[in-house]
Amino acid sequence: MNHNKILRCVYAWAGENKLLTRCRIQSMAHFDRVVGAGSLDADSTASAISIRALSKNYGPVEAVRSIDLDVSQGETFGFLGPNGAGKSTTIGMLCTLVKPTSGSARVAGLDVVDDRDGVRRSIGLVFQDSTLDGYLSAEMNLRLHAELYGMPRNRVAPRIQEMLEMVGLWDRRKSRVNTFSGGMKRRLEIARGLMHSPLVLFLDEPTVGLDPQTRSSIWAYIKELQQREGTTIFMTTHYMDEAEFCDRIAIMDHGTIVALGTPDNLKSEVGKDRVQIATGDDARAVEQLRAVFGIEGRVVEERVTFSVAGGESFVPRLFAELGLPIMSVSVAKPTLDDVFMMHTGTTIRDAEASATERLRANPMWQGRSR
Ligand SMILES: Nc1ncnc2c1ncn2[C@@H]1O[C@H](COP(=O)(O)OP(=O)(O)OP(=O)(O)O)[C@@H](O)[C@H]1O
Ligand SMILES: [Mg+2]
Repeated sequence: MNHNKILRCVYAWAGENKLLTRCRIQSMAHFDRVVGAGSLDADSTASAISIRALSKNYGPVEAVRSIDLDVSQGETFGFLGPNGAGKSTTIGMLCTLVKPTSGSARVAGLDVVDDRDGVRRSIGLVFQDSTLDGYLSAEMNLRLHAELYGMPRNRVAPRIQEMLEMVGLWDRRKSRVNTFSGGMKRRLEIARGLMHSPLVLFLDEPTVGLDPQTRSSIWAYIKELQQREGTTIFMTTHYMDEAEFCDRIAIMDHGTIVALGTPDNLKSEVGKDRVQIATGDDARAVEQLRAVFGIEGRVVEERVTFSVAGGESFVPRLFAELGLPIMSVSVAKPTLDDVFMMHTGTTIRDAEASATERLRANPMWQGRSR
C-alpha cells in the first residue's frame, strides 16, 4: 500500500473515530504534527494523572463537580459509580475529547487543555462504544492505528503479532472485524489500545456484556502487559471482581468522588455485616425492621437486605423479635457492593444491568453484521 493510499484510509478511519474526529486532521503536515512526533518524555517522578478542581457542565447538568485526584505511575485505578455519575465525562476530559468547564488535569505530566496532542500520543483508549472499522481485517485495524500514532515502521509488524497473539486473535488476523463476536471485538480493541505502548491506558467499561471467562482472559492480558511495560491503567467498570483487582478505586456519584481508597480499606470502613432474609412479606419485614430495631432495610434481589454490626450474633434476636416468619437468612462480610451501596444508595448490579442493556443496543457490538 503506497503512502497516499494509507493516508486516504487513515482519513476515512479518522472520520469514524472519536479521537481523530476531534483532532480535525487537515493536511499531511498537520497529520505529522499531530500523530507522527514519536514518543513522549514523561517525568518519571510525576503522577500519571493529576486532577485539580476539574468540572464539566452540560448546560444546567453538572456532570463533574470539582474533583481532585492523583493516580501514580503503574497504578491500576478503578472508577465506579451509578449510571450518569460522570465517569465517562471524566475520562473524556482526561483523554482531551471533552473540554473541561473549569479546573485542570495533567496526564503523563501534560496539561489536557494546553497540550492535547502530547496527551493523545501518550494514552491508549478503549471506549464504551466500539470504534473498530468492521470492514477491515483485525490486522489492518492495528496497522492503521500504528500509522496514526507514527510508530516506527520496523516495530509495527512484530507489535501487531505480539498484540494479536496476546489476545488470541493471531489466527484470525485476516478476517474482517464484522465477522467477529462481541468478545473478539473487545479483545481486538484492547490490543489496539495497547499497540503504541501508551503510558496511560483508559478503559471505559472494557468488558461490559462479556462472559466471565472472556472477562478474566482480557484482564490477564492487561495485567501481563502492564507488568511488562509499566502502563498506568484508569478504568471504569460495574463489575465487582474487576474493581477488587484495582490497586485503588474511587466511587463517583452525582459528579463528585464520594469514596477513595484501596478495596480493602473501603470495605473495612463499612464496619457492618450484610444480612439478607427471605420472608413471605418483604414490605412488612422492612417496616418491622424499622419499628423493632430502628434498622433501614431494602429489597435487593428478592431478599430484604440490611447492614448491622455483628451480623451473626444479631440473627437470633431477629428470629425472636421481628414478628413474622423468616424462611432463610444469610450473613456476609462487607463487599465492594456494600461500599458502593453505602455511598450511592444503589447496588452495583443495577448499574451493571443498565450498562449491559445500553451496550446491547449498540449495533457494532451485536456480532456478525452484513
Ligand atoms: N454530550 C453530553 N451532552 C449533555 N449531557 C451529557 C453529555 N454527556 C454526558 N452528559 C450528562 O452528564 C452526566 C454524566 O454522564 P456520564 O456519561 O459521564 O456518566 P457515566 O458515569 O459514564 O454513566 P454510565 O455508567 O451510564 O456510563 C449525565 O447526566 C449525562 O446525561
Ligand atoms: Mg459511562
